[in-house]
Amino acid sequence: MVWLKISLMLTFLSVCFSYKPIIYMHGIIAGPDEADSLKAFVSKFHPETKVISIDAFNHYESFQPMWKQVDGIKKIVQPILQANPDGVHLICFSQGGLVCRGLLSVLEHNVDTFIALSCPLAGQYGVYKKNFLRLKNLVLVGGPNDGVITPWQSSHFGYYNSNEAITEYKDQTFYKNDFFGLQTLDKEGKVHVHMIPGIKHTHWYSNQTVFECCIKPWLT
Ligand SMILES: *[C@@H]1O[C@H](CO)[C@@H](O)[C@H](O)[C@H]1NC(C)=O
Repeated sequence: MVWLKISLMLTFLSVCFSYKPIIYMHGIIAGPDEADSLKAFVSKFHPETKVISIDAFNHYESFQPMWKQVDGIKKIVQPILQANPDGVHLICFSQGGLVCRGLLSVLEHNVDTFIALSCPLAGQYGVYKKNFLRLKNLVLVGGPNDGVITPWQSSHFGYYNSNEAITEYKDQTFYKNDFFGLQTLDKEGKVHVHMIPGIKHTHWYSNQTVFECCIKPWLT
């Protein structure tokens, strides 16, 4: 009886303290193996955390229309979310970040932290605010040596204004009017911006410095 109680207690504790799994969404002309470095870092530094890399819209299929991809990937992600009621973390690279923003807008999700690795975020908006606000953390990662995301500040929701100067996210109309909830998340201290120099676009998901600064701290 005592042993049963102890084992029940241990089970309860392990349920309480287990790390949330990570769902990874790859970028354009890529596939699930793009997460291989991430899986290696996670198994080294955070061995208990599971990484699920989305195996859909791979390679040339990644040119399919965005909402078609969101719809297809939603069907893959929904059961994962349901199987993990304590939440998951979402790490998305480049174009994958747009797919993930789409998912976060259409799903009544339980994503804890969305880590957007070098995503052209300012390129698209108009999502359903209520679902976006379910996020506990929004982590924006990008830097000036990216070479693909133009302007690179788009990875931080920045964009060119009419004078081709960069408007930071706090000065954007979509922020000031809180169109999709960015201002609300920011005022709640949930938006975390990381600018890392020296990283080329295709190195964001494989560089250990990036993993340690901008991903590892969020793997709760
Ligand atoms: C990872 O990025 C850092 C910061 O830019 C850089 O110093 C380091 O050399 C990079 N690591 C590799 C293996 O490229």
